[in-house]
Amino acid sequence: MKVRKALFPAAGLGTRFLPATKAIPKEMLPLVDKPLIQYCVEEAIASAIEEVIIITGMGKTAIEDHFDTSFQLEAVLAEKGKDDLLKVVKDVSNLVHFSYTRQKEAKGLGHAVLCGKNLIGHEPFAVFLGDDIISADVPCMKQMIDVYNDKGCSILAVKRVPREDVSSYGIIKGRQVEDRLYEVHDLVEKPPVDEAPSDLAIIGRYILMPEIFEFIEKTPPGRGGELQLTDAIKALLSLQPVYALEFEGERFDAGDKLGFIKANIAFALQREDLGKDIAKYLQQLKIDQT
Ligand code: UTP
Repeated sequence: MKVRKALFPAAGLGTRFLPATKAIPKEMLPLVDKPLIQYCVEEAIASAIEEVIIITGMGKTAIEDHFDTSFQLEAVLAEKGKDDLLKVVKDVSNLVHFSYTRQKEAKGLGHAVLCGKNLIGHEPFAVFLGDDIISADVPCMKQMIDVYNDKGCSILAVKRVPREDVSSYGIIKGRQVEDRLYEVHDLVEKPPVDEAPSDLAIIGRYILMPEIFEFIEKTPPGRGGELQLTDAIKALLSLQPVYALEFEGERFDAGDKLGFIKANIAFALQREDLGKDIAKYLQQLKIDQT
C-alpha cells in the first residue's frame, strides 16, 4: 500500500526556545522568511504525500492560520498591487489537504503519534518532526518512500553522529544489508556514550506501519514520564522488520538554538537575494573566539 498520509506532531512545548515559544509555536519560527514547518510540508509534497495531518495543542493555532486562506491579507496585497507577495501567501494555503487534531497534554512523541490514529486509519504513514530540516537533492522522505516501496515495512531515517553526541538521540543497533540501509535489531533512546550500540542516530523522519498504534497503546511511559515513540518501534520489532536508511543530505537540528542559527545562516547563504550580502557580513565580522 502506498504512503499517502503524513503526520506532523507539533504539540510539544518547545522549552528550549523560551521565551520565544511562550506564545508562538516552535514550528512557526522562521528559517530566513518561512516557518520551519513549511519546509517539512514542502518536503512531504515533493515526496508525493497527498494528505498532511498536524497534531497541535494549546497555543498552536498560528499553525492552522498559516496554512489557511487569509482573506484580509490577500485583499490588502491585491489592493496595493503586491502580486508577488499575494502569490506567496496564496500558494501556502493551496499546498495540500490539511487535517488537524489536538494532543490535549504533551505526553511525549509516542502519545502525539497515537493522537493521529483515527485520521491515519489502517495504512502506512510518514512522520515528520518539524525540528529537523533536511536539505537534499532528492527529498529525504522521497528516499525513504523508495525504500519502503521495495521493503514494505517501517523505515527510519538515520544519520551518523559524533560518538560524544549519541546520548542526545535514539540510536539503532543494526546489520547493514545494502549501501546506506540497515536492518534494525534494537533501538535505545538517549544511551550513555559507553552503552550506545552504534553512532547511527534516528532523525525526525519515519515511515511507520499502522500496527505501531497497538504498540504505542501498550507502551508504558518511559523517560520523563513521556510515551516514547522509540520504545513502541522497539516493541514493533517483535512483529515486523524495521529498516533504517542513512539518507543523503544535510540535516539541521532547528529545535536547538545553535542548530537553528546555523540553519538560518546556511539557508540565507543559498538565497539569491541575500547570499552575497550575508557572506560579506560574515567575512567582516573577523570573529576570534579563541
Ligand atoms: P521535542 O522534544 O524536540 O520538542 O519533540 P519539544 O518538546 O516541543 O521541545 P523542547 O525539547 O521542549 O524544546 C519532537 C517533536 O515532537 C513533538 C514536538 O512538537 C516536536 O515536533 N511533540 C513532542 C509532540 O507533538 N507532543 C509531545 O508531547 C512531545
